[in-house]
Amino acid sequence: MFSSDKVFMAMPSRIIFGSGERVAMPPLLKKLGYRNALVVTDKFFTGPTSTIISDLVAGLARAGIASIVFDGGLPDPSVSLCVSARQWALDHASAESFDHVIAVGGGSNIDLAKVISVTLKYGGHPEDYIGEGRLPGKPLPLVAIPTTSGAGSELTPGAILVSDRAATKVALMDNDLRPDIVVIDPDLTLSCPPKVTADAGIDALTHAIESYLTCDSEYFDRGGNPDPGYSGRNHITKLMAGEAIRLCFAHLSPAYEIGSDLEARTGMAYGSLLAAFSYASAGLNAVHALAYALANLTHATHGSTNAVFLPYVMDALRHVRSADIAAIGRLAGLTGADEADLARRVVAHTRDLVHAVGIPTTLRQFGVQEYDLAALVENGLGVTRLTKAFPIQPAANAYRTIVQNAFDGTLGD
Ligand SMILES: NC(=O)c1ccc[n+]([C@@H]2O[C@H](COP(=O)([O-])OP(=O)(O)OC[C@H]3O[C@@H](n4cnc5c(N)ncnc54)[C@H](O)[C@@H]3O)[C@@H](O)[C@H]2O)c1
Repeated sequence: MFSSDKVFMAMPSRIIFGSGERVAMPPLLKKLGYRNALVVTDKFFTGPTSTIISDLVAGLARAGIASIVFDGGLPDPSVSLCVSARQWALDHASAESFDHVIAVGGGSNIDLAKVISVTLKYGGHPEDYIGEGRLPGKPLPLVAIPTTSGAGSELTPGAILVSDRAATKVALMDNDLRPDIVVIDPDLTLSCPPKVTADAGIDALTHAIESYLTCDSEYFDRGGNPDPGYSGRNHITKLMAGEAIRLCFAHLSPAYEIGSDLEARTGMAYGSLLAAFSYASAGLNAVHALAYALANLTHATHGSTNAVFLPYVMDALRHVRSADIAAIGRLAGLTGADEADLARRVVAHTRDLVHAVGIPTTLRQFGVQEYDLAALVENGLGVTRLTKAFPIQPAANAYRTIVQNAFDGTLGD
């Protein structure tokens, strides 16, 4: 019901989208008065098969912007990588000489750049800022140029890190961590190998479905925060998520199978962006909470740990979100005898898609043992910022069922 919506949204100040449109970014930065960039990326982009960074640096130079390139980014950045990356930057220039940070890469490099944009400006250790609303003020302005269609970090208030001291991934959360400028050029995703395409693409679909089904804004617990990162689903987020669901179901398989298909890549880039518009306000819940626990246990990729839980979480929600899950079925292009049938079909269809893009569909296939299940449930429940938004409360029994079903590969009838 519209009348009970409580909308809170925080957005980047500029979004550029389109094939080849990355060239529009340096002149924009010049116009906005930026002069000295720290570029944060990884070795794929500075290696022999990619000209993305050399083209970017040349474009910045033409706009009168000096840049230094840190290419030590790694998948799933750790707290210690954030520390060493900041030190690398300080070994090459003083902290004051950088007036912005440019992240090029997938969600990992964007998250790393978010943390550097904080620690370059305010010093300290990344762990000083873990948690919600712990930044002392605005970090260095951040430009995000995603090269995958999936994570959506370019729109979110979070930076997700691996920590040696926690049982799940940890997060820095603050609306000031949202990038200021976002450049989405689907051409940059053409070089994604199938596994990266699959992991990121299922992540985007998860963001769309999970935020479509999450707690209503009316009931979302903001914890008294006047500047919340996430605040539950509303009419705007559902609109964005619905189109993201349609696009991801339509374009993930073609993008996975024929990486050079620019139409499919652009469909996924739109799908990922719209999913991020939704979840970066509505927030997420059980799939991500359990995925963080699984990632710490197995070190499997973020997308794959989401993918294995997504169908089983949808299945657990079939009776409390029946109309919404049936709507997801229609967005996926399915038909059914009635809503219950459609909901059943789309859960199975989602698991089939996970399988079709080469991701395991059971926890057993991840090497998880039966004795790991209790800890997965406990650690998932422990991600309280996500668990509190799960539509079934209290969540413990539902999490137990989801984890057991994901282990056995069981979907309800
Ligand atoms: N901050 C957030 O809100 C948020 C949200 C979702 C996910 N994440 C994080 O994002 C990470 C996952 O991001 P991801 O799925 O984008 O993958 P990624 O950034 O971890 O990259 C995976 C690999 O793909 C390579 N790669 C990326 N783009 C490429 C391209 N165009 N061509 C060839 N290779 C390419 C990278 O070099 C890397 O080796 C996880 O660490 C996850 O925790 C963060």
